Amino acid sequence: MKNVLLLAGIFAVSAIPTIVSAAPCDTYAAGGTPCVAAHSTTRALFSAFDGALYQVRRASDNRTLNIGLTGPGGFADSAAQDAFCASTTCVITIIFDQTTRRNDLTIEPAGTAGPANAGVPADALPVTAGGRMVYGASFSGRMGYRKTAANGVAVNGQPEGMYMVTSGTHFNNRCCFDYGNVEVPIADTGNGHMDAIYFGTLCWFPPCNGSGPWVMADLENGLFQSNDGVSKNTANTGNRAPYVTAMLKNNGQNFFATKDGNARSGGLATRYSGALPTSRPGYSPMHQEGSIVLGTGGDNSNGSIGSFFEGAMTAGVPSDATENAVQANIVSVGYGNPSPVAGGTLAIGSTISLRATTACCTTRYIRHQNNNAVTSVLSAASVATDKDDGTWIVRRGLANNACVSFESRNFPGDFLRHQNFQLFRQPMDGTALFRTDATFCPQAGRSGQGTSFASFNFPTRFIRHFNNTVFIASNGGPNPFDATASWAADVSWVVSTPWTP
Ligand code: AHR
Repeated sequence: MKNVLLLAGIFAVSAIPTIVSAAPCDTYAAGGTPCVAAHSTTRALFSAFDGALYQVRRASDNRTLNIGLTGPGGFADSAAQDAFCASTTCVITIIFDQTTRRNDLTIEPAGTAGPANAGVPADALPVTAGGRMVYGASFSGRMGYRKTAANGVAVNGQPEGMYMVTSGTHFNNRCCFDYGNVEVPIADTGNGHMDAIYFGTLCWFPPCNGSGPWVMADLENGLFQSNDGVSKNTANTGNRAPYVTAMLKNNGQNFFATKDGNARSGGLATRYSGALPTSRPGYSPMHQEGSIVLGTGGDNSNGSIGSFFEGAMTAGVPSDATENAVQANIVSVGYGNPSPVAGGTLAIGSTISLRATTACCTTRYIRHQNNNAVTSVLSAASVATDKDDGTWIVRRGLANNACVSFESRNFPGDFLRHQNFQLFRQPMDGTALFRTDATFCPQAGRSGQGTSFASFNFPTRFIRHFNNTVFIASNGGPNPFDATASWAADVSWVVSTPWTP
């Protein structure tokens, strides 16, 4: 099985795209609005950059490694990460600033609105860019990075611009998946003390149009789609493209604008361009404090999830022409999913449903319901929500990449994990405990049929259904669900084509 999983982790790569040569920060500089911070786990944002992109730390011995490029101005050396993290797990500990200002992002400590964060899993988001396999940063809640009092970032009404490449398939409605300018203390110090791109479905000033996710300006104490907060743009129903370019610019005095686009094709749509809020005090002029955040709100509100591939901040307000050129370069990178993985197998990235094999229950599948993992009868006639609840995405094991974890199909960032030996769907919180509780090692079905899944941290316990609830159970033991009767059948599952592809 291990070999199967390892083979499944090898991605075929499509034709190498032609990169538009000026990298984003070359373009911003040529436009007179140079980058003051540039962060990416996938590529160089200056054509001449040849340093480290990010640092990973592995669980087995806590050693760290800086991940650089395959060449100047090129793409991340993901092979170095794969070799270093083999048979253990790694988190990203630093995302280095590619400018000379050393505005490196490190894991964000506790703030007034949230506990200390974890680093993102280093291998959770494989992606192709420039025809190579690299990794994005996948935030599952309680994950964030910060640089306090960054060098050269706008303060007190100075003008600035920023962009990030994120994903329209991985978001939620919790505060706040942000990239941009935040407070020096990790606290809400008042209106106008932030100027960050937000991406998600938290409609702070309802009504919003459509179902999102939307690019908004997090200006502190509000996610703004206009000077009045509310969306005034009925065409802005959100952007669900797998790869989204999100932009914000703000002259610090009386103007801001938001834009988004498909990071794989086409141009940018301006969603708002106009006055800063004046109906609420504090935003015009702005009072930015010049720190940088990624993944949380300014006060470390850290319930949000999201994906980050690259982003930069500028001194001065970039022109529309500059932003269009940046978007053209992003498109030329050709962000894309690794080669599609067929559903219904345990290959990493595959979408599956898990069918019980016990004679009583061969039409029942593992699904979540009220956050509990249970089995339900599912069929082609089931309603879409039930099918979604009974579908899982196979991920590399959160605690060991030779095993697997199961991410919810309809609650991205939530995983199957056990707690007091019962299984639940819960948001991945980045802790070592969650990672081990959510990791399962497949082996041949104990009944001789299908596959059984041993708990990573309780290896004599296997995923089992018992009275239609799902546990990790041993073959005989103190709990009713450890009963030996029909144990072998109850822990044997058929990995099936997904109810929701
Ligand atoms: O402005 C929205 C959020 O409000 C900020 O990110 C946070 O600091 C505050 O809770």
